[in-house]
Amino acid sequence: MPNVSTPISNNQTKVHQPTLLTPLLDPAIGQFIRDHSQRLIELVSQHGSPLNLIWPHAFKANTAALQSVLKKYDVNHVIFYGAKANKSQCLLRAAEDLGIGVDVSSIHELNAARRAGTPGALLCATGPAKTAVFHRALVEAGSLICVDSLEEFAHLKALVKTMQVAVQARVLLRYRPQSCLASRFGMGTDDVLECLRQLTEEGEHFHFEGFHFHLGGYGYETRVQAFREVTAFVEAAHEMGLNPSMIDMGGGLPIRYVDPEIYNSFLQNDNKPGHYYNHSVPESFYPYGGSLTASQWLELFLESDHSSGRSIANYLKSRTLTLSLQPGRSLVDQAAISVFRVTRTKKLADNKTVIFVEGSSFSACETWFASEYLVDPILISATQSHRDPTQAYIAGHSCLDDDVISYRLINFEYLPQPGDLLIYANTAGYQMDLLENEFHRHPLPRRLMATCCTQGHYAFSPDC
Ligand SMILES: Cc1ncc(COP(=O)(O)O)c(C=O)c1O
Repeated sequence: MPNVSTPISNNQTKVHQPTLLTPLLDPAIGQFIRDHSQRLIELVSQHGSPLNLIWPHAFKANTAALQSVLKKYDVNHVIFYGAKANKSQCLLRAAEDLGIGVDVSSIHELNAARRAGTPGALLCATGPAKTAVFHRALVEAGSLICVDSLEEFAHLKALVKTMQVAVQARVLLRYRPQSCLASRFGMGTDDVLECLRQLTEEGEHFHFEGFHFHLGGYGYETRVQAFREVTAFVEAAHEMGLNPSMIDMGGGLPIRYVDPEIYNSFLQNDNKPGHYYNHSVPESFYPYGGSLTASQWLELFLESDHSSGRSIANYLKSRTLTLSLQPGRSLVDQAAISVFRVTRTKKLADNKTVIFVEGSSFSACETWFASEYLVDPILISATQSHRDPTQAYIAGHSCLDDDVISYRLINFEYLPQPGDLLIYANTAGYQMDLLENEFHRHPLPRRLMATCCTQGHYAFSPDC
């Protein structure tokens, strides 16, 4: 499908919405881009490119949506925001404002969450390689620890026994579900049972709270199966005299970047080698236009059969278990946009064009995972532009051949000019700042937090 831009005039600037993989936009952000494109140009000239703009209101709306599903099914629950999804401090503050917990995977994430005001008891630590310093801080703060292995359990036991003040480590046992037996995360059945046995003897040092699992992929069905497997351990624990109170199902709730119909049509018609500059179609993509929202996904999970016609929601209630979730990406849905300034375009031998932007693929990282961010950028023309339909791929400003933001050839009705902006929408979830570095000694991209002042008007302040 051709990408027909509709220029919207705003002083000197024009906003060109792409129409192939048009990004779904939070209404307030969409309006801001349409009405304040000149302001975006000024912000980039003041703070540099790329510039990440963070919108905490989206985080709050996403959390409220999941909470309302959990309330609808009357399930005891706790949400831990997966802080790994994004490095913005203002999103941790949003989590604290809402009174939800935070899933931390390093001492640094723990410190950042504490700085945002989250109490230690509302932190949950995941990851297989927690350091002694991290363990100690978690135990001292009274945080939950997902124990990944017998080895970690032994380290934790040794640590707790040497602590000067008598404390109990609050633990969940991380189970490795049948669907991911080759994974290096979590424990198989024998090791979970061995941990349970040791817990029956170590009540003085541990407060055992239940089980945790986290799966790759985005299907709710695999979580349903893993949940059923974990409940066998709930029964085993009770038989051993332990009292599990929580099942933590990790993260992996999906988000939608583009309309599902458009996405499916793209996959069928516009995803051939000829649509990529390097003639190579990535083997896998995030499901950018998935059929389910995070809330629908959660409803389907809770309604799924646990056993003999009893839903998961009813099982949880009958066993007075708390369901814990650790959503990362789905809580930051729409919570950031990334703005790149165009440096130059260049015609290449095969009549294709490359657009160089100030910034690199380290600030927009899907190509580093041999994949692509399947959302078209919005073009803001900074000066008068004339129609010049062009297919272009987008490269970063470094001298690395692989520093490519998008190998996919994007159709532009108006050829981007130096000084124009390309806006990538919905970049908060792992996209915008996962791999940032100071290559070529370019300073790290800045993050600015958007605060609504009056209807449609925002103040931007450094995220710190
Ligand atoms: C243990 C654990 N919990 C939660 C998450 C967050 O997952 P997502 O961002 O897909 O919701 C991850 C991501 O890797 C994880 O490893």
